[in-house]
Amino acid sequence: MCGIIGILGKAPVTPLLVEALKRLEYRGYDSAGVATLVNGHIERRRAEGKLVNLEARVAREPLPGIIGIGHTRWATHGKPSERNAHPIATDRVAIVHNGIIENFQELKDELVAEGRKFESDTDTEVVAQLLTSYLELQMSPEEAMGKAMGRLRGAFALVALFSGRHDILMGARRGSSLAVGYGEGEMYIGTDALALAPFTSRVSYLEDNDWVVLKADGCSVYQGTQKVERPIKKSGLSGDLMGKGNHQHFMLKEIHEQPAVIGDTLHSYLDPATRSVRLPSMPLDWTKVSRVTMTACGTAFYACMVAKYWFEKLARLPVEIEVASEFRYREPPLPEGGVCIAVSQSGETVDTLEALRYAQSQKQTLLSVVNVPESAIARLSNVVLMTRAGPEIGVASTKAFTTQLVVLLATAIGAGRARGTLSRQEEERLALAMIELPARINETLNMEEDYRRIAENTLAGARDVLYLGRGLSFPVALEGALKLKELSYIHAEGYAGGEMKHGPIALIDDAVPVVVVAPTDPIFDKIASNFEQVRARGGRLVLLSDARGVARLGAKAEMSIALPDVDPVVSPILYTVAVQLLAYYTALAKGTDIDQPRNLAKSVTVE
Ligand code: F6R
Repeated sequence: MCGIIGILGKAPVTPLLVEALKRLEYRGYDSAGVATLVNGHIERRRAEGKLVNLEARVAREPLPGIIGIGHTRWATHGKPSERNAHPIATDRVAIVHNGIIENFQELKDELVAEGRKFESDTDTEVVAQLLTSYLELQMSPEEAMGKAMGRLRGAFALVALFSGRHDILMGARRGSSLAVGYGEGEMYIGTDALALAPFTSRVSYLEDNDWVVLKADGCSVYQGTQKVERPIKKSGLSGDLMGKGNHQHFMLKEIHEQPAVIGDTLHSYLDPATRSVRLPSMPLDWTKVSRVTMTACGTAFYACMVAKYWFEKLARLPVEIEVASEFRYREPPLPEGGVCIAVSQSGETVDTLEALRYAQSQKQTLLSVVNVPESAIARLSNVVLMTRAGPEIGVASTKAFTTQLVVLLATAIGAGRARGTLSRQEEERLALAMIELPARINETLNMEEDYRRIAENTLAGARDVLYLGRGLSFPVALEGALKLKELSYIHAEGYAGGEMKHGPIALIDDAVPVVVVAPTDPIFDKIASNFEQVRARGGRLVLLSDARGVARLGAKAEMSIALPDVDPVVSPILYTVAVQLLAYYTALAKGTDIDQPRNLAKSVTVE
């Protein structure tokens, strides 16, 4: 989703703005732009498409100026075009904006009635026009921003540059993230600490409804007319541009990082010496928890699906899982003594954040599994369970998902121990299975050529692909289908194996590959029957199993892979790596944009 940067500097800022935008590319975008003050006037350079287009534009028409703002736009209102690219400007103010101004039509009607002319199709332009109307009434930028905040509805982060004012930059946030960076006689403002990392490690995070005035020597933050303090924290992020190492794509790099980041995550949640789980202290007693509600979006929701099996089986707890965008509006009653767990890589996904807020209103204890410690979801939670995945740049989630699974499994084991539903021996067995995971994943990564072969020979030429799984492998089938469709644009669906004969089996013919996720777990025989049902109808089967499963079914499949043997409880983590690789190599064969698939955004801060 949109990325924002603003710099109040001492030297020409355009190259720095573009450098910061490169660090925000991972969020997904379809146009970009920068604006500076040149002799007090707002000057812009904008371009549709990738940042290289903006760079070419700036090379042709250089943009001087020591104060400026920049933006990568993921279109919401108005198609991706230069005209709708940010900064959106009048002669008085230029705006970069992330989020949606929900009452933009009402504001636009008012502003048009005053005789103001709009030149873009964006909701953002109402902010620029509204501020301009206040400035024309002789308000100061501070007065104008304070008043505008009272008029804007929706979730947004924005930064404003004012003509004739080399001395200030202003920002505001409601919902979407915004951070301030402190330099030496220079100030920065941006979407996240990652964007600010090349310039400074001293960062403060704005809260909802904050607006901020940046000057060369510091900043003042306000809530309404009240001045407030936001602590300066040290960000540990490196200023180096995130590299792909020896890999062709960030996604492949991140797939390969999984043994290491799972190891790091395990380090936080397991004691290898005693083979026991260690969780942070929590303001709750698992024996008294009436129900667990888990909520998330997309891939993170599939993590909740897997965790439901774990919490039910290991801790004998009733679990509801909820797609956040539905949950927040359905507003179901939640029982007293309940726990709500939100799962989010970014910690900024607006639907998940609002779902958690709803759970808060229902007096649930709020846990979150996040990858970004200062994110909005982390800050709302009573307990934060960090994944140690490191920055995930590929838009499609990989290492964030598998580390979410590790954290959720450790939490389910901890809950089971506390509730007396899991014996010490069982805990040791599961801890050992988790400790062995990085090595088993490494072995899977060493079989990369097998995945490439299946991708090139069976999947890349297909129009539709089905994924089947049962039990813990059902969410893996859903995740495999999601990865394939988002990366390769091939239509793919995941089904619970037992559901096939209730409809989807009508799709089976010799043009539809069916990927069967089938570790030899206690319900292997059941998925084996579903495998046979597809085979009997001439389906093209791809089998993902272990040596025993492949010995039993492999000869009947068009292609099969024997993954390393693991305890069935941890199998979703290993088998996820297999479906990631299938999707990656299929997309590679098709030549799609793997790290930034079309239409997708990394951090989904709009509804
Ligand atoms: C798919 C993917 C998305 C995210 C979803 C939630 O590969 O990455 O489905 O999982 O947008 O994002 P977070 O985890 O940031 O809340």
